[in-house]
Amino acid sequence: FPIAVLASGTGSNLQAILDTVHGRDGIEVVAVGSNVADAPALERARRAGVETAAFPLADHSDRAARDTALADWIEGRGARLVVLAGYMQLLTPSFLARFPLGVVNVHPALLPAFPGLRAVEQALAHGVRVFGVTVHFVDEGVDTGPIILQRAVELPHAREAGEVFEQIHAIEHALLPEAIRLIARGAVRIDPADPRRVLLDR
Ligand code: GRF
Repeated sequence: FPIAVLASGTGSNLQAILDTVHGRDGIEVVAVGSNVADAPALERARRAGVETAAFPLADHSDRAARDTALADWIEGRGARLVVLAGYMQLLTPSFLARFPLGVVNVHPALLPAFPGLRAVEQALAHGVRVFGVTVHFVDEGVDTGPIILQRAVELPHAREAGEVFEQIHAIEHALLPEAIRLIARGAVRIDPADPRRVLLDR
């Protein structure tokens, strides 16, 4: 089951994928792409022997052209699933149309609460006592697609984003690989009666 991963930053989620699902149960990371040429995530991929490429917006005439080049490259590597692991750009509808329900994202909040950027900071500012992580399919909205997995963590006294992120990252590093394993196994499908919902066969 060939997968592509897109990441803009550190790539700790990519690392978790490389360490726990890559090369197991028929799952293989065949491509890691970024919009940032010197993203540490790309270095992690190269160290694992995975093909990488960068698609900075500045190298293309516009977002549509960049996303076409990105989709062509991913398709050329044969990926069946695209995993966003801290990919900090919106994908164009025409990119998503080329991977129908084949793009997943990890978000550091319990959606639909706190979509968008700085979700942990939003949650802290709101004074929540339960934080969490969501893995979801990507649709044309911002963090609005069908939810695959969620995990919560109670941090009733949290005050600093750093302490929350420590817990959130640990959850992400387990939950995103788990979602990939389920998808590769064919255990995740959209409810034919309600396309907003995901059915899990576990
Ligand atoms: C994660 O917190 C993820 O939820 C968000 O971006 C962050 C990426 O972190 N979408 P890393 O680069 O995988 O360490």
